[in-house]
Amino acid sequence: MSLRLYHNDASPFVRKVMVVLHETGQLADVELVHAKGSALSPGSLPTTRNPLGKIPALDRPEGATLYDSRVICRYLDARAGARLYPAPGHSGEWEVLTLEATADGMMDAAVLMVYETRLRPADKVIPEILEAQWRKIERSLDALETRWMSHLSGPLNIAHVAMGCALDYLDFRHGTRDWRAGHPELAAWHVGFTARESMVATMPRQI
Ligand code: BEZ
Repeated sequence: MSLRLYHNDASPFVRKVMVVLHETGQLADVELVHAKGSALSPGSLPTTRNPLGKIPALDRPEGATLYDSRVICRYLDARAGARLYPAPGHSGEWEVLTLEATADGMMDAAVLMVYETRLRPADKVIPEILEAQWRKIERSLDALETRWMSHLSGPLNIAHVAMGCALDYLDFRHGTRDWRAGHPELAAWHVGFTARESMVATMPRQI
């Protein structure tokens, strides 16, 4: 094992990396180190490896620890020669990266909502903050349904992985919000995508 990944099952960003490891046949190269903390207390988060104290972070033999998920996924793709990213200058390059950024932004908003309720006493939670984050997710879902569905087909790419993880995280932490309502094409895509072995193997467990 030449790589070490700071890992937590519940993080959708860690899951992105895990799905890439599965899809590119690199699982056996990685040791997983459980890491847990919060915005208030770093706990076992790898603050000496990533000064931001965030996971995923990846130790590798040839250089500095890598973070965040976008950097790590790109590194793993290059390491395996896997082509989850269109080659520079090829058609679709910017769309794939923008779709990945959309999925990552949805995860950011969804995780912030979890922190808002987890870290504050119930009487200090500000509903307007929760709803403002959820509106970002809703606008993204609407944009996907109306403008981006064609980009979710074709050979597997990093945007598909990121979006699969983002939608599963909505089910995992915000299941009562019913993201599928008004987004039938995206919901149908999600059914097919989450049947992939890599997605089944990395499904987060309720904790
Ligand atoms: C969660 O419990 O939802 C979570 C854990 C780690 C990172 C992000 C989210």
